[in-house]
Amino acid sequence: MRLSTVLAVAGVVSATPLIDSDVRRAAWPNTPHVTSGRWVKDATGTNITYAGTNWPGAADVMIPEGLQYQSIATIVTKIKSLGMNAIRLTYAIQMIDEIYSNGGKDVTLQKAFVQALGQTNGTRVLNQVLTKNPSFSASTTRLEVFDAVAAECAKQQIYILLDNHISKGMWCCSGDDGNSWWGDKYFDTGNWTRGLAYMANHAKSWTALTAMSLRNEPREPTNNAALSKSSYNWQGWYGFVKQGANAIHNANADVLIFLSGLSFDTTLTPVVQGTALTPGTAKFSLSDFPGYANKLVLELHNYETSTTSCSTLRGNLDRNGFNALSGTTPNVFPVMLTEFGFQMDATTWKNTYSTCLASYLPEKKAGWMIWVLAGSYYIRSGRQDYDENWGLLNHDWSAWRSPSYVNGALMTMVKNTLS
Ligand SMILES: *[C@@H]1O[C@H](CO)[C@@H](O)[C@H](O)[C@H]1NC(C)=O
Ligand SMILES: *[C@@H]1O[C@H](CO)[C@@H](O)[C@H](O)[C@H]1NC(C)=O
Ligand SMILES: *[C@@H]1O[C@H](CO)[C@@H](O)[C@H](O)[C@H]1NC(C)=O
Repeated sequence: MRLSTVLAVAGVVSATPLIDSDVRRAAWPNTPHVTSGRWVKDATGTNITYAGTNWPGAADVMIPEGLQYQSIATIVTKIKSLGMNAIRLTYAIQMIDEIYSNGGKDVTLQKAFVQALGQTNGTRVLNQVLTKNPSFSASTTRLEVFDAVAAECAKQQIYILLDNHISKGMWCCSGDDGNSWWGDKYFDTGNWTRGLAYMANHAKSWTALTAMSLRNEPREPTNNAALSKSSYNWQGWYGFVKQGANAIHNANADVLIFLSGLSFDTTLTPVVQGTALTPGTAKFSLSDFPGYANKLVLELHNYETSTTSCSTLRGNLDRNGFNALSGTTPNVFPVMLTEFGFQMDATTWKNTYSTCLASYLPEKKAGWMIWVLAGSYYIRSGRQDYDENWGLLNHDWSAWRSPSYVNGALMTMVKNTLS
């Protein structure tokens, strides 16, 4: 609607010709986004790269973090002030499981906070959330909080990659946390496809939604040898990935679908190289995603934080999947680094890992999302009000934890990626 208004006005006022970019801005986000070779394009055909940060909402309370300290609008304004254009917003499948167990009714904030933090602290933190975010009440539901984050992102033009981070709402990830692989203790495949479809359908109303991921960091179930032996391999992976992608696409045909690889999503090599998905002989084929081959994006994570060689790190990233961006591999995709991060202090950002990624990603015009926005968590690994020293924000989400990083490198990295 706004697009046609702009065009109508442009037709009347001929003194200042309307240029394409004005039309595009007017119609943000120009969904659906699609892939074209190694690029993501919006509906006007403009290449889109995502540069953003992770906003966790998949831990025990299962709502986006930080709302006891700041309003949603304040937090999104901070993201925007970095020049970023995207967030990776995480959720747990348990949130949807609880809607189903609750007769289709979503859980209230009152219940969510008390369930995760106990009666006394849960009530206290809930009241802090309501003070900072007065449009909510104790009976606001979890999904209504996600909806409010999405609405603010739309207002400030921040794209959302909605990420299924884990099944059971808790800190992620290890090989023995019960959420490692399809069939693990908490990772029921049916609950997972049901949850993906539920969120894909629910989030159709989010203007800012452009993409959904299948699953964060698939990994070997290290405490379950039988499960590991039966399916922790590329052949097993492909079967599950096709189920998840179908679940999302059938519920919402507009979103991009992000695929993550083995070993904590550090490698997608056989997918890019088109080699056998072992121990089977079948290969990855876009024809296995009928009608939506132009929706698949690869995502990788990298935490080689102690590297001392940028050329080694670059070589690893290329080999693990980023060489799909060269356009010369058997399979070509957009590839994004949806997690990397390090301690936020005065000096760590000057090391090889950080400076190498700050040049590599913009040079490749690869999308990325730094881990993590959160300065603290409602609860992490049993400790309440946990301080996150990798957080871009400080403990009460009021300021940057490492202003020297933000001003000395991060904002330039965003600018160089999006320019
Ligand atoms: C946009 O994508 C096209 C391929 O469709 C590519 O040739 C072009 O270089 C890209 N433009 C920019 C500015 O990256
Ligand atoms: C409740 O919150 C207080 C203050 O943050 C904290 O010291 C205490 O450990 C919390 N209680 C539990 C059970 O975690
Ligand atoms: C799957 O969801 C149901 C609720 O519909 C729940 O009772 C069950 O515990 C979930 N399974 C797992 C493994 O979490």
